[in-house]
Amino acid sequence: MKVLYAASEALPFAASGGLADVAGSLPQALKRRRVDCRVVMPLYGTIKDEFRATMKFITNIMVPVSWRRQYCGVFEAKAGGVTYYLIDNEYYFKRSTLYGHYDDGERYAFFSRAILEILPYIDFKPDIIHCNDWQTSLVPVYYTTIYGSKEGYTGIKTIATIHNIQYQGKYGKEILGDVFGLGEETTPLVEFGDCINLMKGAIECANKVTTVSNTYAGEILDPWFSHGLDPILKERSYKLSGILNGIDTKNYDPETDKDIFCNYSAKEPENKAKNKAALQEIFNLPVNENTPVIGIVSRLVSHKGFDLIKRVMWEVLETTDVQLAVLGSGDWEYESFFKELATAFPEKVGLRLGFVPDMARKIYAGSDLFLMPSKSEPCGLSQMVALRYGSIPIVRETGGLKDTITDSGDGKGNGFTFKSYDAYDMLDAIRRALAAYGDKKLWDKLVKRALKCDNSWGKSAKEYIALYESLLAE
Ligand code: GLC
Repeated sequence: MKVLYAASEALPFAASGGLADVAGSLPQALKRRRVDCRVVMPLYGTIKDEFRATMKFITNIMVPVSWRRQYCGVFEAKAGGVTYYLIDNEYYFKRSTLYGHYDDGERYAFFSRAILEILPYIDFKPDIIHCNDWQTSLVPVYYTTIYGSKEGYTGIKTIATIHNIQYQGKYGKEILGDVFGLGEETTPLVEFGDCINLMKGAIECANKVTTVSNTYAGEILDPWFSHGLDPILKERSYKLSGILNGIDTKNYDPETDKDIFCNYSAKEPENKAKNKAALQEIFNLPVNENTPVIGIVSRLVSHKGFDLIKRVMWEVLETTDVQLAVLGSGDWEYESFFKELATAFPEKVGLRLGFVPDMARKIYAGSDLFLMPSKSEPCGLSQMVALRYGSIPIVRETGGLKDTITDSGDGKGNGFTFKSYDAYDMLDAIRRALAAYGDKKLWDKLVKRALKCDNSWGKSAKEYIALYESLLAE
């Protein structure tokens, strides 16, 4: 079985969020299970020279972007045993950031078109093109409207995976022809809410639509979560399913991780304490093994639940012997909140604004608890990484958080959870977690249980393969 995994970002080459983790690890897991899965992504200007040096030039072609003909170089690289095709066009991709440009619609129309155009030149004819998020949503649309009946293209199936329904790729209708190169007759496929909505187009045209957890697959049928797309998804619910993400357990392994202060494992968890002491030290917090440390590693944006944290964290810090280790960047509102907090409680709050991957790992390894009270969370990877490092998650029961974390109140769970999006419900979960921390025997058991949780790709890779097989059998 041949699968071309199309993504706008993938590790190790370029990353801005969880999609890059998934695109950088699921194909490897599929490969281990004998699926010939290859990745196609843009050759961004930000990709490091050390990677570029290993890339092989395959060919260059011209790709239509409506009436334009744009240069498209194709490079090949290997990472983790997987073949990557990198689409080169400096005009579109040599920029300082991945997204957020005035012409993103055109950039990813080019990318989507290029994915289809390069097929005759790469010596790999996929049975399935697996697309991800709005940036590759035009692939199923172009396949349905332009390529499906062309010689050499027949019989390919397409899958669209929604990693976050908040970002849909919405554009004015006036660019349907001029930028996307689609005729008036395709309007019913891509038009929604008086504009062009690329994700809607993918939902209409792809053979299957998936999202990254079972709970989120149900949630997005509800207007509270769907950012408007629930009527379309309800109509197409027969092709919708949820498959939980896994994490790369080789990359995230406290036993071998070189970025943490001291390695440890489920068998010998004792060294986790050394990581905690070192973390307290780098954040200039009093080094005390009995003070619980709560870690937060996140984009500082509202849907990650920071309104709840804003509402009660002051109270928590004033009344409780606890420390916070925060890493993230994002909205000014939350950045300035944490700055204030760090100034008011210098002995309790350690803060780094920005995204520093090795610091994230130090927090996973050095914290006792990991707070992730998201308003919505399609899957969430950090809570799984936290478990892997023995930091006990406190999460809201939504999306993938609900599917990966169960409350330990029953003596079996792996974290602390709360249901409604309410600051005092979160506070209750934090208080229960801190009380559990005070019971050393119980806590050691919880940490060991967390360290043993298996969130590797095994089970989910099998589910993707079953989905691929069902499609090919149709
Ligand atoms: C998006 C979602 C996140 C998910 C990730 C990978 O970033 O917001 O919940 O884990 O995609 O699928």
